[in-house]
Amino acid sequence: MSICYVNGKYLLKKDSNVSIEDRGLNFSDSVYEVIAFRKQNLLNYVKHINRLKRSLNELKINSPFSNFKSLEIIIKNLIKFNALNNGFIYLQITRGTSIRNHLFPKFSKPNVIVILYNSKDTDYFKKGVKVITIDDMRWQRCDIKSTSLLANVLGKQTAEDKGAYESIQINKQNYITEGTTSNIFFVHSDNLIQTHPSNNNILGGVTRDIVIELAKRKKFKVLEKPLSIRSLKTIKEAFLTSTTVGVVPVIKIDNLKISECKPGLVSKQLMILFKSNSKKQIKNNL
Ligand code: PDD
Repeated sequence: MSICYVNGKYLLKKDSNVSIEDRGLNFSDSVYEVIAFRKQNLLNYVKHINRLKRSLNELKINSPFSNFKSLEIIIKNLIKFNALNNGFIYLQITRGTSIRNHLFPKFSKPNVIVILYNSKDTDYFKKGVKVITIDDMRWQRCDIKSTSLLANVLGKQTAEDKGAYESIQINKQNYITEGTTSNIFFVHSDNLIQTHPSNNNILGGVTRDIVIELAKRKKFKVLEKPLSIRSLKTIKEAFLTSTTVGVVPVIKIDNLKISECKPGLVSKQLMILFKSNSKKQIKNNL
């Protein structure tokens, strides 16, 4: 049994629906968030809600919540109704339902969908993953977490078809932006950690921000500057970050072996720090 939330109602997933004139369906005119919960505790909730508010604001979608406390109550109810301990919340807000027209509708209310998914076993990621490089074909507002994800979908499928976990996107200037579902970090031989700055060319990941904070606390130097594809061959380690997988070491980029195809020491350290940071949050909430 799986219960979700659609526009004020808690429904069985199989009985829930939105209109065929929903603008999320017709135009990808919608935003989303993915939030992890562990032992029924929401992780990094405030950071996710702040990004959600920003995405809504940037797309001029009216917020369906005057007070985001009500969204927290909805999410907590869903966790209880579904009797799940660990998993992910997928929250989607569309501009609403209206007769097909590119222009914003004058009188529509946003549609709100909240679905929960169980966590998958991520132990497999500890050994590190292979990634490939692809052209970054996306628009110039990747900072908005919109459901317009076609380039990401195609890129992720290309990775899967080539036996890799993720595709790393390269922009027209030959700089690495991010993965299709994750941010990417590099570690240089002097342990300097480098990642793309949080601007319109990437999604500013919640995990990314936390990892930067944790790394700085451990006295690592962090450089937020794009890395060129040419510089790849000089790097010592690489790792991915996202809400669904945490910190994941990269052991191969195309045919380039990274840290002898084993997770690097800095990546492993940050993986452990990120996990204990989540555990601390759970402990503080209990
Ligand atoms: N993806 N970059 C892109 C393009 C992403 O889709 C994601 C997350 C990230 C990492 O963001 P965060 O650390 O806030 O999860 C970076 C989510 C998990 C998804 O779409 O399922």
